[in-house]
Amino acid sequence: MTETPPADHSVSTAGDVGGVDGRLPTQGGDEADARDHEVAYDVVTTPVLVIGAGAAGARVAIELAESGLEPLVVGKRDYGDAHTTWAAGGINAALGSLDPEDDWPIHAADTLNEGHHLNDPEAVELTAKHMPDRIRELDEWGMSFARTDDGKINQRYFGAQSYRRTCFVGDRTGEVMLETLIDRAQALEIPYRENVMITRLLSDGTRVDGAVGFDMETGDGLLFRTNHVVLAAGGFSAAYRRHSSRDDENNGDAQALALEAGARLLDTEFVQFHPTGMVGERYGDEWDGRLVTEAVRGEGGRLYNSEVSASDASGGSEALSASGGERFMERYSPDQMELDARDVVARAIAQEVREGRGTEHGGVYLDISHRDPEYIRERLPTMVERFEGLGVDITEEPMEVGPTAHYTMGGVDIDFQTGETGVDGLYAVGEAVAGVHGANRLGGNSLAETVAIGKLVGDHVSEQVTAGDDAPTVTDSQRALAEREFRALADLAASDGDVAPRTLLEDLGEVLWTHAGILRDGTGLRDGLDRLAELRARTADLRVDGDRTSRSFEYAVDLSMSLVVAEVVLRTALERTESRGAHYRTDYPETDPAWRQNLIVTADESGLSLQRRGVAGPSEPVREALAEGYELDYHHLE
Ligand code: FUM
Repeated sequence: MTETPPADHSVSTAGDVGGVDGRLPTQGGDEADARDHEVAYDVVTTPVLVIGAGAAGARVAIELAESGLEPLVVGKRDYGDAHTTWAAGGINAALGSLDPEDDWPIHAADTLNEGHHLNDPEAVELTAKHMPDRIRELDEWGMSFARTDDGKINQRYFGAQSYRRTCFVGDRTGEVMLETLIDRAQALEIPYRENVMITRLLSDGTRVDGAVGFDMETGDGLLFRTNHVVLAAGGFSAAYRRHSSRDDENNGDAQALALEAGARLLDTEFVQFHPTGMVGERYGDEWDGRLVTEAVRGEGGRLYNSEVSASDASGGSEALSASGGERFMERYSPDQMELDARDVVARAIAQEVREGRGTEHGGVYLDISHRDPEYIRERLPTMVERFEGLGVDITEEPMEVGPTAHYTMGGVDIDFQTGETGVDGLYAVGEAVAGVHGANRLGGNSLAETVAIGKLVGDHVSEQVTAGDDAPTVTDSQRALAEREFRALADLAASDGDVAPRTLLEDLGEVLWTHAGILRDGTGLRDGLDRLAELRARTADLRVDGDRTSRSFEYAVDLSMSLVVAEVVLRTALERTESRGAHYRTDYPETDPAWRQNLIVTADESGLSLQRRGVAGPSEPVREALAEGYELDYHHLE
C-alpha cells in the first residue's frame, strides 16, 4: 500500500451545532464552551473505504484493486503493524501435506465441533473450502511457508484438530502473512493512510455513506465520503484487563461503530481465553498476557503445575517435568491432553491456580525442553528469542503461563458471501464479525477467515461500486452529522475533570476480567453491569491532557468504544443461561440444547435489545464428516 497524498481541501466552520450526547464520553461541563471549539476538517472521497489494515482489510483491498478499483485503506498505526502480526502459530487449510486423509469437510466438522455448533455453517464451509486455494495463493505471492523434505507446505498439529492442518512460518506466521499481503497491496499501489482513528460512521440507521475520524499525528478532523465502507478493525479482547493484544488495538471500535450505525452484533458473550499468556508477575507488566503460541504445545510442549504428589516424587513418573510439577492435563483430558480445545485447557489452568497448585506468580509451567534444542530453535524462534531476552532459555527450562483474553468470537452479523451487514453500504470482515467460530475458535482459523472471507467480500463489494462512486459529493446533512462529531471530539479533547481515561480503561478491564471472565455467574454479571454504570458516570469527570494528538485523547476514544462492547458482553453473557464453549456459567454448568441459538444485539435510542436466532444445519459432506467422529489423537505426538 502507498501513502495517500494530503486531502485536497479543508473546511473550517464556526461552532453552531449542538454537542453529541451519544457514545463519546464528553464532559458534562458548559455546553456553550464546547460549541465554541472551531471545527476544521479535511474531506477525502474514495470509492471504497476499508477501516483496518490487518490481514482482513488488506485482503479485501487487494481484491478490490485487482478488480480495477482504488480503495483507500486506513489504520491506526504504521502499515504492516496490525494485530495480525501477533497471530503466531499458523493458518489452517486441509492441504493434507502430511495427513492425506484430511479434507475440507473434516476441517469444517472440527470447526463446528469446536464452536459447539453455534457457528454459521455457511461461513465455516466457505472458509474450509476456500482455504487450500488461499494458501496456494499466499505461497505464489511469496509467503515463505515451512516445507517438508519433499517440498510440500508443512503442517503442524494445533489444538482440537483431527489432522496436521496448520501451515506455518516458524512462529511468525501472522507477521509474514501480513508482510506478504502488504507487498502485494503495494505492488497494486493501493493507497494507505496511517494514524487514522475512525470515531463514527455516517449513517441514518439504514445506510452508511462515509466515516468521520481524525489524524492521530496532526489532530486534524477527517470526513471520508464514500458509498462503501468495509469494517475490518478487529475484535474487543483488549477491553479485558489481561489480554494478548497491544493496548491500542482490539478495543471494540468495529463493533461499537457498527452497532451505532444500525448493524446487528451476535455471539458477543463468547470471548476466547488463550491458555498460554505470559505471566506479568514473572516477566514484567509489559508482557502480561502476551501470547505464548499454541505452536509450543503443537510441537509437543507440556503443561505442569507446581504440585509433586508422593507417588510421583518417589516413582519418577513421566508426568513430572524439570520443574517438578504434575502434568495435570492427564486429569482433565487424557486423550487430547495439552491440545484439547482452548476453553478446556484455559479452564483447567485456571482451576489448578485457583486450587493452589499454580506457580508463585499465579500461572502454571509450559515446558518443551524435552525436545531437541535445535528443533525448538527452528520451529519456535520468536519464543526462544523473546524468553532469552527475559533470561529464560526455553530449550532448558519451562515458561510460566496463564490464560489471557485473546480473541472475540462475537462481532458484526454479516452475510458471508458478501460481507453485507444489513445496513446499505456497510460491510464487515475478519475478527470484526461473528459466525465462523461459534462458541469457541480453533487456533489457526482466525488467519484463515481473514483471507478466505476477505477475498469473497472484496469480490462482492467491487461488483457494487458504480459510476460516480469515485468522487461522491458531500451533502449538507452529511456535513452536519460530521460536524456534530467533530464538535463532540473537540469537547472531549477539552475535558478538564479529574479522571484520566487510562484509569477508567484499566477499571473497565478489571470489571470484564472479574465479572465476564473464564467463569461467570448471574450474580457476578449483574454486579458487573452495576460497576459499568458507575464507570459510565465517572466519564463525566474525564481529564484529557491536551489535544487530539495526545495519548490521553486516544484512550478517551478507546474508552468510548470499550464501554459499548463491555455492556454488550455483560448483557449477552447474563442472558445465555447455559455453558457452551468459551462461555462458562458456574450457575448453569451444562450445555442446554434449547440454547443452540445465536443472541443478536441491536441498539436504538432506548438502548440495547437482545433477540435469539436459530442456527442452520451444515451441508451433507460436513454432516457425514461429523458423523465419522474425527478427532485429534494427542498421542501421535509422543
Ligand atoms: O497461539 C497462537 O499461535 C494463536 C493462533 C491463533 O489464535 O490462531
